[in-house]
Amino acid sequence: ELVETLSSKQPGVNYREERVPNYVLPDILSCADGRAVHSAADWPARRQEILELFREHVYGRSPAAPAGMRFETVEIDPKAMNGAATLKRINIHFSEQADAPVLRLVMFVPNQRTAPAPAFLLICNRGVENIDYTRKIKSDFWPAERIVERGYVAAAFFNGDIDPDKHDGFVNGIHGLLERPEARTPSSWGTLAAWAWGAARVMDYWVTDPDVDDTRCVVTGHSRGGKTALWAGAEDTRFAMAVSNESGCGGAALSRRCYGETLSIINKAMPHWFCSRFHDYNGREEALPLDQHLLVALMAPRAVYISSADQDLWADPRGEFLAAQAATPAYALFARKGLGNDGAMPDLNTPLLGDGVAYHVREGSHTYSLYDWDCHMDMADRELKLKPS
Ligand code: GCU
Repeated sequence: ELVETLSSKQPGVNYREERVPNYVLPDILSCADGRAVHSAADWPARRQEILELFREHVYGRSPAAPAGMRFETVEIDPKAMNGAATLKRINIHFSEQADAPVLRLVMFVPNQRTAPAPAFLLICNRGVENIDYTRKIKSDFWPAERIVERGYVAAAFFNGDIDPDKHDGFVNGIHGLLERPEARTPSSWGTLAAWAWGAARVMDYWVTDPDVDDTRCVVTGHSRGGKTALWAGAEDTRFAMAVSNESGCGGAALSRRCYGETLSIINKAMPHWFCSRFHDYNGREEALPLDQHLLVALMAPRAVYISSADQDLWADPRGEFLAAQAATPAYALFARKGLGNDGAMPDLNTPLLGDGVAYHVREGSHTYSLYDWDCHMDMADRELKLKPS
């Protein structure tokens, strides 16, 4: 029924499984020169090759942190959340120029702890109001109280602090600060890469913050933020886990399935998100030298969680599941099982918390819900806090 409705509202968009084309996914364990990857010792070279493919063809190449970067403590309130947390507001500056972008990091550090705390960093794509540090506005999109209650630092920044979410010719935001538009190439970083770069700068700060256990940090995001979280986890291996909630096309979903949103659609609607070379594959997904299962594989042997919602067919839940599952060979190199299921998609509202890789599809529509957060934290508990499962 949903398929009928969506198909009639969006003619030309495929929502029928039987119309998914036949495809062959690029092999995770075959190097460009034909050599096969046999062991964990072979993985770093293959991983680097895959990372370069994504830089070259999908997200673009990002610069290093600027030499002048500095961290400014704006506020510390040890009695936030009725005493449950310490609020820390840290501004990350990239330049002394007056109009330069500033990443305003919000952190609630649990007060009940005996050691540095693990952390969840949300790349917030839904406006600053959803990460309100005064807590007057609360939303399930960022359930900071619950995150703290479960023993994690609840941290977030607004993606627009780094780069505006519009096609401005890359003259504003961090692009405007760090590069000249005329020097851009087809593989220069797009806006998703810029947001992911922002997450890496938070990590730069966290390694200096004694409240945070920088070996147990999770990067997460929803939709465009979920695409970004996966790329942030791929680019910056200091993140111990990445979470992609309903990230869809250009995130966890396999491009070759051409189900729901496709490359042509996304690159036309959001020309600033990816590098311009990605646009060469509009309607030619089979020509891509990669697919999104390789993005998931870049997390190996670290933890990754992919989640979908059953009504969010635009993001292709099955394509997201298949990418998570297809990453298994990379985990196997490290004697990890990955999703480790029998191949079938799990039932609704039945999280599959595997060994290194987790997946769920919940009932409902496109949003980051409390249910999603709780599942993600369950996996982090197992993977990062080493509680007996
Ligand atoms: C649009 C876009 C998606 C994206 C989503 C979101 O629907 O087509 O690719 O994930 O916005 O960020 O909510």
